[in-house]
Amino acid sequence: MPSDLLVQKRQKFQENLINWYDANARDLPWREKPSVYKTVVSEFMLQQTQVKTVLPYFDAWLKNYPNFSELAAATEDQVLKSWEGLGYYSRARNLHKLAKAIIKLEEMPTDSKNWQAFPGIGPYAAAAVCSISFNDPSAVVDGNVVRILSRLTADENEYKSSTDAAKVYRQLSQDLLNLDRAGDHNQAMMELGATLCHKQKPQCLLCPVNELCQGSQQGIAEELPKLNKIKIEKKTVDRAWIQNEKGILLYKIPQNASRMKGLHEIPTLEQAKISNVADSPILERKRSITKYRITERFFDIEQTLHPTKLPENCIWTNPQDLKTLAFSGPHRRWIEELIQIVP
Ligand code: ADE
Repeated sequence: MPSDLLVQKRQKFQENLINWYDANARDLPWREKPSVYKTVVSEFMLQQTQVKTVLPYFDAWLKNYPNFSELAAATEDQVLKSWEGLGYYSRARNLHKLAKAIIKLEEMPTDSKNWQAFPGIGPYAAAAVCSISFNDPSAVVDGNVVRILSRLTADENEYKSSTDAAKVYRQLSQDLLNLDRAGDHNQAMMELGATLCHKQKPQCLLCPVNELCQGSQQGIAEELPKLNKIKIEKKTVDRAWIQNEKGILLYKIPQNASRMKGLHEIPTLEQAKISNVADSPILERKRSITKYRITERFFDIEQTLHPTKLPENCIWTNPQDLKTLAFSGPHRRWIEELIQIVP
């Protein structure tokens, strides 16, 4: 891989990239009057999530929790409710814990090594927060950066995953970092990955570093990086829609669960202790979570089928109270649909 060639041309690379960023950076709310708090919130929200999805959440979050102290003072239920719909809820819980840890400190650390001790802060978030907020000389490496660097170096090696490739690219990314403007350089890499160096149909003719890009010159940019395809697995989940004079039966994910603690869902048949269903489902929806393509089937369960004792972790909810609860993923949308189907 001719990465040493690229490092020799690093000054040109840095100049072209930063000039392009200065002229083309999108106006994003965390870039307006930036603060450590805004940077941290944006980096948590932007993990695994696109900018356009994050924008309305970011604005609402800053109104509800304008700084670390106000966030630390909120309850976990309030925080989860504000995060509802963004997914990957451990991010919300970690952000809340981080705020509580930060307000106890006399002084905030300013380097990425110390930031990695905070909840939810891995090497990427630490490098992003510290370079943007404190010009700490740490380069970010994520899927976008892997894509850009593998194309620049025309790297045709195969990687198991983007995470595996990121380990290989850490050093090159660091060698290319513009130390005078580390935060802007990192944001420029993110911006290039998001706006021009797309997975499909990269806009090479508009790219500020096209002249340095071996992949573009060899006409193979779009094929890179070479990542093993994830094997998709199909799965069916059957859920119980139980609505009667006590309300709607919901499952509250317990605190000892590994994911999405405290959020609500429509219970599976197993969680609702329903052993068999005669009828066909009243609603069927498909969704994808990581490598799974899931068919969600909802069965209308007659009250008589249901045991009098409330199943473990289940609650009856009055339909008027639904808006006060936090739901995981698309459950709120499904509930709205089910209420229409079974009035
Ligand atoms: N993705 C992650 N961090 C980002 C940032 N600061 N700006 C734009 N996209 C990002």
